[in-house]
Amino acid sequence: MNSVKIITIDGPSGSGKGTISRILAEQLGFHYLDSGALYRLLGLVAVRHGIEISINADLTQLAKNMDVSFQSKADGHNIVLLEGEDVTDELRTEETGALASRVAENPEVRSALLERQHQFAKLPGLVADGRDMGTKVFPEAQLKIFLTASIEERAKRRYKQLLERGENVKLRALEEQVRSRDERDMNRKTSPLAVATDAVEVDSSDLTIQEAVDRVQNLAILRGLL
Ligand code: DC
Repeated sequence: MNSVKIITIDGPSGSGKGTISRILAEQLGFHYLDSGALYRLLGLVAVRHGIEISINADLTQLAKNMDVSFQSKADGHNIVLLEGEDVTDELRTEETGALASRVAENPEVRSALLERQHQFAKLPGLVADGRDMGTKVFPEAQLKIFLTASIEERAKRRYKQLLERGENVKLRALEEQVRSRDERDMNRKTSPLAVATDAVEVDSSDLTIQEAVDRVQNLAILRGLL
């Protein structure tokens, strides 16, 4: 029987893992899990239903029962539906990101979301992107990547994105933000951002997106996944 092939791509924000994972999944014809979106969705739905993020039992129930679906449109765009409503753009805001990082600190919420994440592992394979994909969610993955980039480079990427959106920001301030977010992600008690012992580290600082995708794809070939 064919087993599901799993590639995990973990790393800090701004490392490029979202873009690289999405392209890789498309190239390989694999499914794609954006695990950060689940934490973002939970933050969003909690606010919409007036549920206090600090009330454990309510938030955990919501994590188990929230009505979300990930869909691919005919034009190749992926959209995310929450209770039937398209929330794709709302998911990406800084505000939703901040909510996500609060709900992500809760260990019971993390366990409640495990089953949902496991359901993405379907034939022929999965590319799973997040912080704890290789360490906690799919420890059996055949290829684990830890994608990094220097703080300066990640701040520069964010700077460009925000400028394009017409936001007025300072590069220095962004560098500080990236530094403190790294610290929070790596030092939280439950499932901190960490390199799995069997992960391959890829530094994307000096790579184009396509070069980074090719590097991961070559590693997958070496592991006999393709
Ligand atoms: O990757 P992202 O920016 O969409 O993630 C949003 C938040 O969710 C971020 O604060 C880290 C958290 N997260 C997590 O704790 N574990 C994951 N597997 C994915 C994201």
